[in-house]
Amino acid sequence: MTVLENVSLKEFNTFGVDAKASLFASVKNQLELKEVLKDPRFKNPFLIGGGSNLLFVNSISRPVIHINIGGIKIIDENDDSVIVSAGAGIKWHDLVLWALKNNYGGIENLALIPGNTGTAPIQNIGAYGVELKDVFYNLIAVSIDDCSTHIFDENDCEFGYRDSKFKNEWSHQYVITSVRLMLQKNNHFINTQYGAIEKTLIKKNISNPSIQDVADAVIEIRNNKLPNPKELGNSGSFFKNPIVSKEKTDKLLLEHPNLPHYEFTGNFYKISAGWLIEKSGLKGLREGNVGMHAQQALVLVNYGNATGKELWKFAQKVQQTVAQKFGITLDPEVNIIE
Ligand code: EPU
Repeated sequence: MTVLENVSLKEFNTFGVDAKASLFASVKNQLELKEVLKDPRFKNPFLIGGGSNLLFVNSISRPVIHINIGGIKIIDENDDSVIVSAGAGIKWHDLVLWALKNNYGGIENLALIPGNTGTAPIQNIGAYGVELKDVFYNLIAVSIDDCSTHIFDENDCEFGYRDSKFKNEWSHQYVITSVRLMLQKNNHFINTQYGAIEKTLIKKNISNPSIQDVADAVIEIRNNKLPNPKELGNSGSFFKNPIVSKEKTDKLLLEHPNLPHYEFTGNFYKISAGWLIEKSGLKGLREGNVGMHAQQALVLVNYGNATGKELWKFAQKVQQTVAQKFGITLDPEVNIIE
């Protein structure tokens, strides 16, 4: 493990922002991680995984630890299911491809989600009707404070919509080193209800889809709508879909009968942030190096060499415009590092 000084984080965040870290170390296993956590220079570290859910507004004065722990292995199995352990540094989509190659079902709807396996539980990644928590078994985490190792199960993690205890009470307390998932060997549960999956399968004349067919459909849909961060810096959905009271939703529906809304819990609805941004006239709007994507209004895009400050300023303008038009405040889904 080498410690580097004054490192550009451009390659370590999918927005492609050229923020600098004064101190940087990349760790490949738990031993290296514990070594660096004990190093007094790395007190109060900033952890970075796939860098797909971060916006660096400024340079980072905290020491940065890049979690690059690899390895995928089966730790238990029976006739029907398998428990798979993946290192925190494994790219999430590589894990999806590995599961498909072995015909293990459960994460095919989550194909092509950017980011690493170790950060997937932090925001309980989700797409097309499936969330990480649906296949989650447990995870291993190391305490930043005293380097002790812990196993946390679903109850411990308190998963919610793009949320977990790691985003709240436990933020800055643990480093997730591996994640275990329970996947199905046979009798796969095929989930095609959500979004455009069904339509895509019909177009391809597939009536009895396999997990590979579902993954292929998801990949096609995502490729059509979401820009590839390698070509255009972005972080997927920039804002969360807001959760709004039934009363407020009913009021909005009177004026906008087509407002996409989904029942959340009790008297609340999740409404589409992409729609709100589009109806505020911001879909495809570009100002200099930044803009909201033309195919998916929820995606903030770096068209060139935008700085973190430019991206954040534009995002705040989007927040204000939507708030003025609809009286709803959009919360970023991406972590804003100021
Ligand atoms: N919509 C618009 N205009 C837009 C975008 C969306 O009107 O520009 C409306 C459409 O009516 C559409 C509805 O919003 O039917 C929902 O859009 P979409 O299916 O694209 O999903 P989303 O709610 O915008 C969420 C996740 C995505 C995930 C998709 C598919 C959040 C914040 N985002 O987006 O996750 O891929 O569902 O399941 O929950 C991510 O987290 O980075 C991400 C990409």
